[in-house]
Amino acid sequence: MSKRIGILTGGGDCPGLNAVIRAVVLHAEVTLGWDVIGIEDGFAGMYEARYVDLTPHSVANLVARGGTVLGSSNRANPFHYPIKKPGGGEEIRDVSDECIANLAVLDLEGLVLVGGDGTMSIGKKLMAKGLKVVGVPKTIDNDLEATEYTVGFQTAVEVASEAIDRLHTTAESHDRIIICEVMGRYAGWIAMAAGLAGAADVILIPEHEYDLERVLSYLHKKHEGRSSYSIIVVAEGARPKGGGVAILRKGDATQQERLGGAGQVLSEMIAARTEYDVRVTVLGHIQRGGAPCAFDRLLATRFGARAVDLIRDGRYGEVAALRSGEIVSAPLDQAVAKLKLVDPAGQMVHAARSLGIELG
Ligand code: F6P
Repeated sequence: MSKRIGILTGGGDCPGLNAVIRAVVLHAEVTLGWDVIGIEDGFAGMYEARYVDLTPHSVANLVARGGTVLGSSNRANPFHYPIKKPGGGEEIRDVSDECIANLAVLDLEGLVLVGGDGTMSIGKKLMAKGLKVVGVPKTIDNDLEATEYTVGFQTAVEVASEAIDRLHTTAESHDRIIICEVMGRYAGWIAMAAGLAGAADVILIPEHEYDLERVLSYLHKKHEGRSSYSIIVVAEGARPKGGGVAILRKGDATQQERLGGAGQVLSEMIAARTEYDVRVTVLGHIQRGGAPCAFDRLLATRFGARAVDLIRDGRYGEVAALRSGEIVSAPLDQAVAKLKLVDPAGQMVHAARSLGIELG
């Protein structure tokens, strides 16, 4: 009987997940002769035993397709699983043993977890219960320590920088300040990269509480002088000195808090102190949807192939990673130990400061 492996996509989706699935299936089935089972909707499908057979035929044409054909869930954590109660409402239960028992029936040689820090943390706990796991790091936030780039990040930067280009022309036509709010919960990688690529005037990131006075003074100087418009890029997790992060919905036992409004908060503070005409654009999930860029297709393909190699070589507990342009592997522990944040003394910040970009 041929060997069998599984694959699951967990957490928020991003462009490039389907390219990972395709690479895993092609390498496993075509070169190694293994079968591949897809687990549907992340850990929800693991608990509910919902699987689909993946074949080279079923993954044809997936390299350029956004989202994940397997579905995903960022609420389904086997260790804090929301179970619907008959009379309404939910109770939170640890269903990890049921998940392990379900997978035991499949007799998997290994399971590829494609996810961010949440999915990898769950993977680590499932490994401790005996599951043979390898990982592929993905998240548009690019905040996993183990790898230089995660799948999805470059596409989000492409989308955000194209949006910023468009905001320049309308801001200039109307002498406005336009604030572009991008994703980036704890890490400001999208804001920094898209802000630099899109020639933003001000970039505000979660790693550094911004000083409103500095932002205002930058705007005054710029608008008195050569230009009458400005573009501010703000990460959703950015906050002013003495203020909090803008939250749309509080977190609970199964969901992290929903961020949003950082741009609006800043716009109101600028409007209260100046005569400038300010507008806010929130890019939101547009950054996560749609086709992956070529960089993400390539990264996803190389990560997917490496993940299968890791299983073939019995290197469980490792994740594919990019270091200095090479695909390597790193311990799962490193992928979850701490978030990779924008370094205030690092090269990105240095480049921004060198160009006179205000970082608050
Ligand atoms: O972690 C990736 C991310 O895109 C964050 O930047 C953002 O805060 C979050 O997901 C949004 O998640 P949801 O799709 O659940 O609103």
